[in-house]
Amino acid sequence: MNSLNLVILGFGGHARSVADVALHCGYTHLMFIDDQAREGESFLGHPVQELAPQTIQNCFLAAGDNIKRHHQWKIAVQKGWPLVTIRSPLASFGVGSKLEEATFIGHHAHVGPLVHIGKGCVINTAAIVEHDCKIGDFSHISINSTVAGRVTIGRFAFIGAGATIRDGITISDSVIIGAGAVVVSDINEPGIYLGIPAKKIIL
Ligand SMILES: CC(C)(COP(=O)(O)OP(=O)(O)OC[C@H]1O[C@@H](n2cnc3c(N)ncnc32)[C@H](O)[C@@H]1OP(=O)(O)O)[C@@H](O)C(=O)NCCC(=O)NCCS
Repeated sequence: MNSLNLVILGFGGHARSVADVALHCGYTHLMFIDDQAREGESFLGHPVQELAPQTIQNCFLAAGDNIKRHHQWKIAVQKGWPLVTIRSPLASFGVGSKLEEATFIGHHAHVGPLVHIGKGCVINTAAIVEHDCKIGDFSHISINSTVAGRVTIGRFAFIGAGATIRDGITISDSVIIGAGAVVVSDINEPGIYLGIPAKKIIL
């Protein structure tokens, strides 16, 4: 167990991306914890277990879903598992920017200067979060999305793949922006917003 150096909570699609970045960061021994784990399951030889080991040195949350990731965070905090941040060496991170615990920055993401990213966030592969943005706790900025400068995004928000948020916009908590949408005005209430320009849709 001493050689184990990162425990990843979850074994869904996002957990594989987390594992890839973690291995690029220099972690060599991964273990996934997932209550759906099947006997003998592994990822490139890194085991998947139903139950957590007794001692955890470094822990990371790997649910792509914001609510599930928050639940993982609560468990980790309650058990006292030390949470790390995972930041791809292939990502760029601007001067004066700050990242809170348990946040993920994927390959080729770009975080501009003076950005604040809250805890438990996902800044996914090739996402851009430009200068002076504020991203609230447990939000997910999906692959290849663009958040222009001075945008403020609340907690538990989800910005879909390839979406664009115009500079200076404010988006409140728990808002879902669909893949490919373009947000050009502030969004002040939870809901699903789709299209160009993004409009609230009841699905
Ligand atoms: C918006 C979203 C959350 C809705 O998901 P859903 O509730 O499962 O909705 P459905 O796929 O059943 O689609 C419902 C309707 O909305 C339309 N729709 C879905 N997503 C859309 C989008 N992004 N833009 C425009 N229209 C969209 C569908 O065509 C469908 O229209 P119809 O009723 O006329 O056939 C989802 O489609 C989406 O965009 N998710 C983002 C996924 C993503 O970015 N993943 C990356 C993870 S890193």
